[in-house]
Amino acid sequence: MAKADQIKALIRCHAEGDDSRFYAVAMQVAAQAARAGQGNFAQELRDLIDQAKAQARPAGSRGPQPVPLALPRGELAGLLAVGYPKTRIHDMALGGALAERLQRVVREQRQRERLRSHGFSPQRKLLLIGPPGTGKTMTAAALAGELGLPLFSIKLDGLITKFMGETAAKLRLVFEAIAATRGVYLFDEFDALGSERGMGNDVGEIRRVLNSFLQFLELDDSDSLLVGATNHVSLLDQALFRRFDAVFEYELPSPDIAIEVMQARLALLRTSAIDWTAAAASAEGLSHADLTRACEQAAKNALLDDRTALETEDLVTALDERRSMRR
Ligand SMILES: Nc1ncnc2c1ncn2[C@@H]1O[C@H](COP(=O)(O)OP(=O)(O)OP(=O)(O)O)[C@@H](O)[C@H]1O
Ligand SMILES: [Mg+2]
Repeated sequence: MAKADQIKALIRCHAEGDDSRFYAVAMQVAAQAARAGQGNFAQELRDLIDQAKAQARPAGSRGPQPVPLALPRGELAGLLAVGYPKTRIHDMALGGALAERLQRVVREQRQRERLRSHGFSPQRKLLLIGPPGTGKTMTAAALAGELGLPLFSIKLDGLITKFMGETAAKLRLVFEAIAATRGVYLFDEFDALGSERGMGNDVGEIRRVLNSFLQFLELDDSDSLLVGATNHVSLLDQALFRRFDAVFEYELPSPDIAIEVMQARLALLRTSAIDWTAAAASAEGLSHADLTRACEQAAKNALLDDRTALETEDLVTALDERRSMRR
């Protein structure tokens, strides 16, 4: 018979939407039953698990459901853009350490009730730093996708220019929404905000907004994830760092990662003729986003030529074009 601990674990996994652990515990129960001579019960359990896995609904459609919410209404509508991304962490080509750290955030979030009941807080205020096109925005989407949460995007610089003079009040609205509706809230392109502070410019508005942002950030003890993304770390205010639970650094892809990005984007075409080492050499200095675009261009060129097989030349040409666009 299943032990009390296993029943509790099953209920917890169900509540947290952690399917893989749920099945693992269920398989444990089945294995124990088999060892205890309850062969029929064990087999029935295994069949049930197989059936359940086969019918598993797509990610995000089960587990802890986000508060149903059509669209931010009223004043909030101008401040937040909402989406329900299907992106997952394994859709991204990330260096090993980064992928693990992101998975860790997801695990802590899935088990947040348990962590909290023991007096610990899950990581939920994250700062993503790195050059353009390396996956910062995509990471926010992947976290939302993994957790089945809505992704709300807030552009702080947009907030400032659009609501000059009343941004602090608007920020309060945003943070009220953060407390009211669990989700992933992405504060994209911090740069405008962080970099101006303390540079001696008389930008009172920006300073006020940054200060109130930092205060709100510090006071926030909601269940939402707050993700800040920026390109410019050196200019960013040190005060920002202290307010985040974790800082993630993004880099231009290594040759191996570049190959991974290109192969993933070209997965639907025939690529066996491609010399990936040569392609990776042409990819040097380009971001993940550049590589994705170059692959799309190369693929479209080939398809328009009535070819479904890509040559190294197709790819290298598209990569070179991409590079020249950046100059
Ligand atoms: N690590 C990655 N793995 C796979 N694809 C990626 C990765 N990073 C970026 N991409 C591709 O590039 C696109 C743009 O990336 P994203 O918007 O996340 O970059 P970013 O770091 O937010 O850039 P910016 O600083 O300009 O906002 C993604 O939608 C995806 O197609
Ligand atoms: Mg971005």
